[in-house]
Amino acid sequence: MKLIGDTILITGGSEGIGLALARALEPNNTVIICSRNQRKLEYAKNLCNGLHTEVCDVSDTAQRQALVKRLVEFFPHLNVVINNAGAKRTTDLAGPEDLNAAKTHDMSLNFSAPAELCIEFLPHLRSQANACIVNMTTGLVYLPKAKQAFYCAAKSALHSFTLSLAWALKESSVEVCEVSLPLVDTQFHQSELPKNMQAMKSEEAANKTLRGIRKGKKHVYIGKTLLAHCLSLIAPDTGMAIVNR
Ligand SMILES: NC(=O)c1ccc[n+]([C@@H]2O[C@H](COP(=O)([O-])OP(=O)(O)OC[C@H]3O[C@@H](n4cnc5c(N)ncnc54)[C@H](OP(=O)(O)O)[C@@H]3O)[C@@H](O)[C@H]2O)c1
Repeated sequence: MKLIGDTILITGGSEGIGLALARALEPNNTVIICSRNQRKLEYAKNLCNGLHTEVCDVSDTAQRQALVKRLVEFFPHLNVVINNAGAKRTTDLAGPEDLNAAKTHDMSLNFSAPAELCIEFLPHLRSQANACIVNMTTGLVYLPKAKQAFYCAAKSALHSFTLSLAWALKESSVEVCEVSLPLVDTQFHQSELPKNMQAMKSEEAANKTLRGIRKGKKHVYIGKTLLAHCLSLIAPDTGMAIVNR
């Protein structure tokens, strides 16, 4: 995918990696970003006034389906969907608290919403000469963090779904790409970046993401995520000890 002259939706594009992707893509493409918070969207538009913005909670089925309908109508050339919106809740599986709220939140935002958005956009994307779906996952798919159990499980489900989708669409005009992200310095960590661990800047993560997609890679491993994948196969206990220290 050249990512030049394309019409691109980035979910969660109002800050962090999504905003860095939007800013890098906007000069050569029509870029629409969505997120829940109008103020954050206005901030993004002030930085980059060519962006189109949409308020949408992608984990709310009615809002998400209305967004798909609106975008297909107003941006009939939309041909790239980047499923980037995500968030995590911290949990203690061994503790006494009720874990259901964290499970529902993490699974619906990080797995159900992007999977359903793929399904909902697919008829439209298949009508385009060239199209691409990009799903953002994490190295924690391979070595999960116990305190983010549901987030890691949801991203693992998204990883599996993305493999199936890519296989099912391999003869079609729709490319499917998974991007495995490392630790990136964004609000995602709510000022709780793990100590002694170096985080990548969001601009670097975005540039590496775009380079991988432009090369036509089906899976883009960024930073040490490929190492995490290998460690999970050859020395899972060592890998888990590093991630959970
Ligand atoms: N940062 C990391 O270390 C890291 C590592 C691996 C993978 N990732 C993945 O990379 C992606 C981007 O993360 P980030 O670090 O850039 O996060 P971030 O800085 O916290 O930004 C998250 C974006 O998603 C939006 N968002 C959150 N919930 C949403 C919802 N229900 N509906 C629509 N938009 C929503 C947020 O805006 P609103 O709050 O206004 O909705 C914001 O624009 C996520 O999928 C994350 O899992 C991040």
